[in-house]
Amino acid sequence: MKGQCDMATTAGMEEYETVRARIAGQFTTEKDIPKAIFSDPAIYREELKRIFRGHYWHMVAHRAELPEANSFKTFWLGETPVLLTRGEDETLRAFVNTCTHRGTLLEQRATGCSKEFECPYHRWLFSNKGNFIGGPGRRDFRSDFVAEDYALREFQVDEIAGLIFCSAAPQVGLEEWLGQCAGHVRDVMLDDGRLTLLGYQNAIFNANWKTYFDNDFYHAPLLHMGFRLLSWHGGQGEVRVEEPVGHFSVGYESSPYEDNGFLADPSLVEMKGTDARARVVALRPAYVLTKHLDTISVRFVRPLGVDRTQVTYAFFGHESDSPEYQAHRVRQASNLLGPSGMITIEDAAVFNRQQMTSRDGGMSRFVVGVDRPAAEARQNDENGNTAGWAYYREVMGFDR
Ligand code: FES
Ligand SMILES: [Fe+2]
Repeated sequence: MKGQCDMATTAGMEEYETVRARIAGQFTTEKDIPKAIFSDPAIYREELKRIFRGHYWHMVAHRAELPEANSFKTFWLGETPVLLTRGEDETLRAFVNTCTHRGTLLEQRATGCSKEFECPYHRWLFSNKGNFIGGPGRRDFRSDFVAEDYALREFQVDEIAGLIFCSAAPQVGLEEWLGQCAGHVRDVMLDDGRLTLLGYQNAIFNANWKTYFDNDFYHAPLLHMGFRLLSWHGGQGEVRVEEPVGHFSVGYESSPYEDNGFLADPSLVEMKGTDARARVVALRPAYVLTKHLDTISVRFVRPLGVDRTQVTYAFFGHESDSPEYQAHRVRQASNLLGPSGMITIEDAAVFNRQQMTSRDGGMSRFVVGVDRPAAEARQNDENGNTAGWAYYREVMGFDR
């Protein structure tokens, strides 16, 4: 990931050092976050480098989104475009989705099936293994042209229970990165990962990407009236906080809605399946998996700037589902999450209020349960948040 962005990075680095020095006196612990962290453009630019092009593993797809050989998916890691391919040999590969000639976005479609990718500008052709295949006027190419030097730049890719992750510069393997949260990840994927994609929804939040991801469990029964309809077991779950990175997951059992006459049609919150495992897994830096009742959803978070964040909700069923069961899953999932989801709508309003005040020079403080060690964390504590902030402070160069 070296090249033409390095000069801009050096100038940005000086600016970041100035901002970091100014904030450091306020940002002395993971429990007290200066709100400038959510609104300063220099911090945002440094996050793109250290987090989205750094050593983090990013959850980027499920295999069901690339259902056959030669399938592909495009997405963004921060401001870096990525092309994920599934080869004829079943190998998954991820590349910077940028033509190595003059730097044009190579593939524009969100998903599809293709062995080759042609850049629209001068029609250079690349294979889904990332190789340069050819381009018009080849005989007149510069004398030092070597095709291998023009291969697409590649990320590392790994997979767990059908979920695909990639990283620009991993320091540890994926299993180690996920730690004890890996078990809950497998649970959401129904152990075998043989899921089918039911569809996507997108929502754009007027909030910093960390504001979105820092949604705590403390608020859940207090803000979300909808949880009362969902038999949410506030405080009862098995909590896993994975240090040092700060992934956070909660596991509990879904229980069916007890009809109290509140809903005219309680079929929306019925559990038709037999797998009662419910899980919410929040993976740093910004990815969420949810299994609740019959809903299976993963959320991909893309920063669009310091105060805008796009969240793509992908909804899944299992390969063994009947068409009726699939339809039920879609109806239930999109009423829970996504742009029309009752949980999302309430969260979006609060995130917007947080962002509106993020330039007032104040602090965002974690209070509940934060003196408990991570191993003793409870579901509605805020120390699921502070573990991730401790890691963030280290990655962004604030002293621990
Ligand atoms: S920029 Fe892609 S072929 Fe020229
Ligand atoms: Fe929420």
